[in-house]
Amino acid sequence: MITKQMKIGTGFGAHSTADDALAGTDLTGTTALVTGGYSGLGLVTTRALARAGAHVVVPARRPATAEQALHDIPRTEVYALDLAELESVRAFSERFLETGRPLDILINGAGLMACPELRVGAGWEAHFAINHLGHFALTHHLRPAFAPAGARVVSVASSGHFLSDIRWDDIHFHTGYDRWLAYAQSKTANALFALHLDTLGADSGLHAFAVHPGSILTPLQRHIPREEWLVQGWVTPDGKPADGFKSPEQGAATAVWAATSPLLDSHGGAYCQDCDIAAPAATDDMLIGGVKPWATDPEAASRLWELSSRLTGMNAFR
Ligand SMILES: NC(=O)c1ccc[n+]([C@@H]2O[C@H](COP(=O)([O-])OP(=O)(O)OC[C@H]3O[C@@H](n4cnc5c(N)ncnc54)[C@H](OP(=O)(O)O)[C@@H]3O)[C@@H](O)[C@H]2O)c1
Repeated sequence: MITKQMKIGTGFGAHSTADDALAGTDLTGTTALVTGGYSGLGLVTTRALARAGAHVVVPARRPATAEQALHDIPRTEVYALDLAELESVRAFSERFLETGRPLDILINGAGLMACPELRVGAGWEAHFAINHLGHFALTHHLRPAFAPAGARVVSVASSGHFLSDIRWDDIHFHTGYDRWLAYAQSKTANALFALHLDTLGADSGLHAFAVHPGSILTPLQRHIPREEWLVQGWVTPDGKPADGFKSPEQGAATAVWAATSPLLDSHGGAYCQDCDIAAPAATDDMLIGGVKPWATDPEAASRLWELSSRLTGMNAFR
């Protein structure tokens, strides 16, 4: 089912927090897996899901750091995972599948932004490889674990997708690297991934959504020199988050909402923001958001799926 990109009116908004979005939701007995669930928005997401009763699995590129970040959150479990390495994705997934736990919620939240040019795997551009292909492979490996009664997958995208469609003729930037276009392309890929996954998973009760968390100062901005933060309009001259920025608690809200809200039971594949389905973008202002047509194009989603399947060798959803 393809959902129209139109607000449904949820009673939540840009100021809602992850705890607001989960108020009254009992996740006791469920298992969630949150990539990047030990930093920035992911850490808040893990905390909120665990507080609502879920057992939360956090695969981490830096397990020791993750253990430390999560030490006071009950029902969390850390494993090693580097999304840049398909072998690591396979090894982590095998360990998870061996536990026999059914997976109710998968939040593909890990990501990097605007890093210097970096190639991983088979010479792949790092944003596309880590933000998209690593999660593509992970979701395929985990397919046998998805709970039969309506599992949800949330792909953490971004209004950064405004800057680039999939660069079909030069996905890996062989003709010249641009860190912002590389991030943007990977975020368009995150949105298209959710769209096609929902199409393929609907028969087995699996729903997938893409979310834009909002703009939030987190370690994500680590590759951008501080001087540029002011130029980008992210901070005020005295270093405070600019108007329109969210707190991490607000930034994690849409992902946990999309992972759990019964209001989305009859929707699928939608791009969401501010705890609602997003409307088509009316402007190019990324703070206002909305979704651009190239991030909700079913043909592009299918084409990207085929390409990603060829690159990773994964086709578990056929
Ligand atoms: N913050 C924002 O304003 C904003 C806006 C729109 C979208 N988003 C999206 O929200 C998500 C979370 O971002 P954040 O702001 O919470 O950033 P963050 O604090 O930097 O968290 C990113 C997480 O991804 C992990 N990660 C990076 N490379 C990895 C790899 N190769 N394998 C496994 N994990 C890896 C990081 O692990 P390490 O710490 O070990 O590197 C970290 O835990 C991202 O997908 C981002 O694109 C954020």
